[in-house]
Amino acid sequence: MLEVNNLSISFIQYEKGLKQKTIQVISDLNIKISKGEILAIVGSSGSGKSLLAHAILGILPKNALMSGTILYDGRELTTKRQKKLRGNEIAFIPQSVNFLDPLMKVGSQVRSSVSAGEKKEKQRKIFDRYSLDSRTDSLFPFQLSGGMARRVLVASAVVGGAKLIVADEPTPGLHPEVVNETLGHLRELANQGCAILLITHDIGTALNVADSIAVFYSGITIEISPVSDFSGKGESLRHPYTKALWNALPQNDFNPIDGFQPSHIEQHSGCPFNSRCTFKSSECVSKLPLIRDVRFGKVRCYHAT
Ligand SMILES: Nc1ncnc2c1ncn2[C@@H]1O[C@H](COP(=O)(O)OP(=O)(O)OP(=O)(O)O)[C@@H](O)[C@H]1O
Ligand code: SF4
Ligand SMILES: [Mg+2]
Repeated sequence: MLEVNNLSISFIQYEKGLKQKTIQVISDLNIKISKGEILAIVGSSGSGKSLLAHAILGILPKNALMSGTILYDGRELTTKRQKKLRGNEIAFIPQSVNFLDPLMKVGSQVRSSVSAGEKKEKQRKIFDRYSLDSRTDSLFPFQLSGGMARRVLVASAVVGGAKLIVADEPTPGLHPEVVNETLGHLRELANQGCAILLITHDIGTALNVADSIAVFYSGITIEISPVSDFSGKGESLRHPYTKALWNALPQNDFNPIDGFQPSHIEQHSGCPFNSRCTFKSSECVSKLPLIRDVRFGKVRCYHAT
């Protein structure tokens, strides 16, 4: 349904004396999502998750330079198609509630995402599902609490019968019951054939609902694995960082990972995890490993088996 191939995104940064430097924040990124599948993207803050979502939706900031291809339903997702499909066939649950139109009542906003049938009835039904009572319909975004605004964003994305949903951190700050309801609803939509890209920094959320998990590190995909590989001591996982991430969870060994994640990869500086990796060899510091297939998953590491 969605295929992102060799995506790179960079920004030009001005240094002292009007010198320019290109900062590549996403490099050579590949993901694929089929109908009925939830692929979770897990990565820490600044690893490029929202930029990936914005590239798919065609809403990257104007100063961003993008290369690579994005295919939707087998055809290139051009700017023209992005404009046409955004908000109906391709729905977006944004990370920021500022994506709501401040000048439009939220009931009307959600009704505008319904392409066919009884708009009012569909909007009310979805609001009921997310515990937004009838008084909410005529409120403006500034009159909503943070949690209500997030529920309106989710309702707006799922009301229109989308075939692809890009959900960028859809549940922060929500009550645990609403979190479960939202994730359960995404699972239900996937089971009905929708393809879902779920972006989160919380691996626990991803494991609860996704089919597979792509791990981001400094703007590159370092591993894509089925959820079932996240078990035991992480023996079935492929990349040292994914294993460390899994073992850092409170329900596992609660072992924190030393060091920090570079904000982007430097050309010719090798694997971005090398300063934290106990398995590193000479090639790890000279050239970025390519992503390759290992046991029904993918990994970008010279020594993973
Ligand atoms: N308009 C911009 N100009 C320059 N750099 C940018 C711009 N937008 C994003 N970046 C940089 O790109 C990197 C990735 O940003 P992004 O918002 O995708 O991160 P993220 O993984 O979504 O983080 P978070 O979990 O905090 O939401 C960051 O280092 C950020 O500073
Ligand atoms: S490529 Fe080398 S440094 Fe990077 S994760 Fe693999 S072993 Fe560690
Ligand atoms: Mg983000």
